[in-house]
Order: sequence, then C-alpha cells, then structure tokens
Amino acid sequence: MEKIILEAKNIHKSYKNGEKKLDVLSGFELELREKEIITITGQSGSGKSTALNILGTLDLPDIGNIIIEEKQVDKLDNKHLSILRNKSIGFVFQFHYLLPEFSALENVLIPTWIKEKRSNSDYAESLFSDLGLSSKLHSFPNQLSGGERARVALIRGIVNKPRILFADEPTGNLDEENASRLIKLLMKINEKYNQAIVITTHNPKVAKIGNKKFKLEKGKLN
Ligand SMILES: Nc1ncnc2c1ncn2[C@@H]1O[C@H](COP(=O)(O)OP(=O)(O)OP(=O)(O)O)[C@@H](O)[C@H]1O
Ligand SMILES: [Mg+2]
Repeated sequence: MEKIILEAKNIHKSYKNGEKKLDVLSGFELELREKEIITITGQSGSGKSTALNILGTLDLPDIGNIIIEEKQVDKLDNKHLSILRNKSIGFVFQFHYLLPEFSALENVLIPTWIKEKRSNSDYAESLFSDLGLSSKLHSFPNQLSGGERARVALIRGIVNKPRILFADEPTGNLDEENASRLIKLLMKINEKYNQAIVITTHNPKVAKIGNKKFKLEKGKLN
C-alpha cells in the first residue's frame, strides 16, 4: 500500500456568531495516501470548505491534528510552514482569487517565481492548452468569464506540481464540456506526476473519479 502523506485526526471546528456556536466539524478524520484521489461531497453548509482549508493548512482546527508528510502542522514555525506550503501543497479556492493587475499567465506563474526565482512557462502554457485557454494567456481577470477564471485558478494551483492538490468545487462555474476537460486534467496530473488530490464537489462526475469517495455529514466523513 502507498505511504500516507496526510492525516487528519479528530478535527473539531466551530464558528461563533455572537452567543451562538455552530459546530461544523466534530471528530473529522481523513487519511490520504500517495497517488490517491479523494472526493468529498455533502450538502451546502456541511463544512466542505472548512475542512479543506484546515487540511490545506490555511486554517487551524479548534482541536485535533493535521500531519502532512510526517510533520505535525501546528508544531511548524512560519518558515517551515511556508516551505511545506510551497513545496507540497497546491490549493484551488472555491472563490478564485486572481490578482486583477496581472494577466492570466502571470497569475499562474506567481507561485513558480516564489519557488524558482526565474521560471519556465512551458508547463503553464501546456496547462492552458489542456483547458482550452491558449487564446487567453495574456487576458486580465476582468476580461475573463467566471468559468475561465476558475480554470486559470486551477492551473495556478497545480503549476508547481504539488504533492497534494486541494480543489474546492473546481467545476462550480463550468459547463459540461469544460468540466470534463478539467476532470481529465486532474486525472492526468494524478497519473503522470503522482499528485494526490482532495476534491470537494457537488458534481457527480467529479465525485466519481475518487479512489475513495466520502460524504461529509454531521461534521464527519462517511
Ligand atoms: N467564518 C465563518 N464564520 C461563521 N460561520 C462560518 C464561517 N465560515 C463558514 N461558516 C459556516 O460554517 C458552515 C460550513 O461552511 P462551509 O463553507 O465549510 O460549507 P460548504 O460545505 O463548503 O458549503 P458549500 O457547498 O455551499 O460550499 C456554514 O453553515 C457556514 O455558514
Ligand atoms: Mg464550500
């Protein structure tokens, strides 16, 4: 069996709104192995984005541990956390945050500048082509449709070939054809570069590509 690269143990997370406390995750657990695709479905508001943010080290749980590549995340100092994020983690947000003053290609290349100082854009451009976006390399975000922005955000998340990709509803804004392209690309990077992927989705076709398929209910995966 492949090695475990990410473990979430007994995760609890609540939000406080004034007097009220909303328990979102309660005893959430997950084990991700190398080369694995895990898909998570669940009702709107069930906590999928909350869980993914915690798994991807963007947020901290109230209780519980995240272990990525044998390192306990909450014990890392800022420097080592940055290294882990840059080397091992790619994130595609549900609401893609492209920087408005940079072109589509520049937005995608930003993470590679951090990694390598000078970057080769061939791989990035091949990803634009895989997603039918070759003509949009130099467009600015406000010149792109919602679905085009979503695809650019996906490319930005995978351009550094992270060991683990977290994708939060990556097909949210996409028509069938573009959703299929995106699914194909995720399966390709998984097979070709052995990138493990955790995807949350409402799309049954995306959910199907999981080697493991879970549903988030009452704060836990089933
Ligand atoms: N910062 C916050 N403060 C208070 N409540 C929050 C906060 N973020 C999320 N919530 C609440 O936590 C619950 C889980 O939200 P979350 O975004 O994780 O759901 P989701 O499963 O991703 O939903 P969707 O399918 O609509 O994206 C929701 O009820 C939401 O209103
Ligand atoms: Mg969400």
